Amino acid sequence: MLRSSCSAIWLPLEVAIQINNLRRLLHTVEALSELGPALTAEREFSESSRLMLSTMMEAAGAREGVLFLFHDKPAMLTSAAAMGFALMPDPAFVPLLPKHVHTLTAARGPVVLNSSMYSTFLSSNGNVAPELFKCIAPLKAGGKLAGVVALGRRLGDALYEDAELDALELLSSYLALAVQNHALTQTVAQRVSENLRLTASLHGFYDNALEAFATAIDVKHVNIHGHSLRVGRYAAAIGEAMGMDPSEVAALRSAGYLHDIGKVAVDRRLFGKPGALDAEEFREMADHTVVGHQIVSSVQFPWPKIPETVRWHHERSDGSGYPDNLAEDELPMPVRIMGLADSFDAMTSARPYRAPLSVGSALSDLVRSSPEKFDPNVVQALLIQVRRDAVGSSRTPLLDSMLVNIAASDIDLLAATLQHKVSRNKTYLTREIGAGAASSAPRELVDPTRDPLEELPPAPPGGAPRSNFFR
Ligand SMILES: [Fe+2]
Repeated sequence: MLRSSCSAIWLPLEVAIQINNLRRLLHTVEALSELGPALTAEREFSESSRLMLSTMMEAAGAREGVLFLFHDKPAMLTSAAAMGFALMPDPAFVPLLPKHVHTLTAARGPVVLNSSMYSTFLSSNGNVAPELFKCIAPLKAGGKLAGVVALGRRLGDALYEDAELDALELLSSYLALAVQNHALTQTVAQRVSENLRLTASLHGFYDNALEAFATAIDVKHVNIHGHSLRVGRYAAAIGEAMGMDPSEVAALRSAGYLHDIGKVAVDRRLFGKPGALDAEEFREMADHTVVGHQIVSSVQFPWPKIPETVRWHHERSDGSGYPDNLAEDELPMPVRIMGLADSFDAMTSARPYRAPLSVGSALSDLVRSSPEKFDPNVVQALLIQVRRDAVGSSRTPLLDSMLVNIAASDIDLLAATLQHKVSRNKTYLTREIGAGAASSAPRELVDPTRDPLEELPPAPPGGAPRSNFFR
């Protein structure tokens, strides 16, 4: 009878507990299904951390909690999110001894802490007292500790029971993956940034070494003093104006420093010769491209295009250059840039046989020689950089301030001329907005009879024959 009445009371209680556990389990599954998309979404880790912690706290009915990340060198827990504690440092950290790492890693699931257990799992050497935590859930991925969720008091100061621990265990393995994923991302980001720093310092080293080399090349020949350094600077500036990335710009600068390295094999007497070179002398001079190519091909540069840029910097779009008589579509962009940078500096520098051209006259000649000799896009980029100098908006001036004797309006005129030359014989269909059918007839945008070059000041007297500019 007694047994029977006890059983009658016990059964509904057991069922009630089971129903309650089932509800909690369903709630945990619901939390998991919400957490999945949230953790894989594109968001800051601090935001994800708060979401993970609040899910754990809700599942355990906790009103205080901290999500710690584990770092192994040195062994340390550092808070990524904290909620509910009246006073919690940000970040909170708990240094760990090897025995703490061992017990946290060996724990089979969440652990309810009492006063005799704190020193087993946590040290008191950090900026937070372990006694604040009533329950800890180690987060482990692949058998390794990734973090710890430490919970404080529950609502109504209730104890953590098996049901809460089960829910925490289910969520812990899931959170551990998210925390480990973050740690791996951090490691990769750190390695990438370290590699970039090393690469930058390597490029800096190359830059300095090649700058010294360029100076050495030019010093041998008094008449081209500073030429290689300037060509490197001009080529890099043109590349920047064309939107090239920093690595391509660095390659252009280095190729510019080295483009005339083959001149070390040219008889220095030829550089000082006041008249035109005879055929034999010209061939010796022209060979500096091939010799330079041989020299730089034997060096392992971080930029693979340097040898071809050195070899072909005297090639021209119409195939009239040397040593291989290549045509425009065979010339890589760095080669086209180098050809223009080299020519521009040759034209604006003094030679024993001629005075330097003004910047305006040199640019006029380059526009006049496009697209036959030079790529108009490259000439346009040079105009952009010189214009920045002319209006004083260059971060680092391209030219010596004494050389910038051209007005921005003249550069604009040259740019318009260049555009006109490129688009000559092309007809554009235009329609003015709101105009009637009469204005929709095709028309040319630029007057083909006008040659704006004629409006520029003439080259200074004493200018040399064109064939001498590129020596
Ligand atoms: Fe050259």
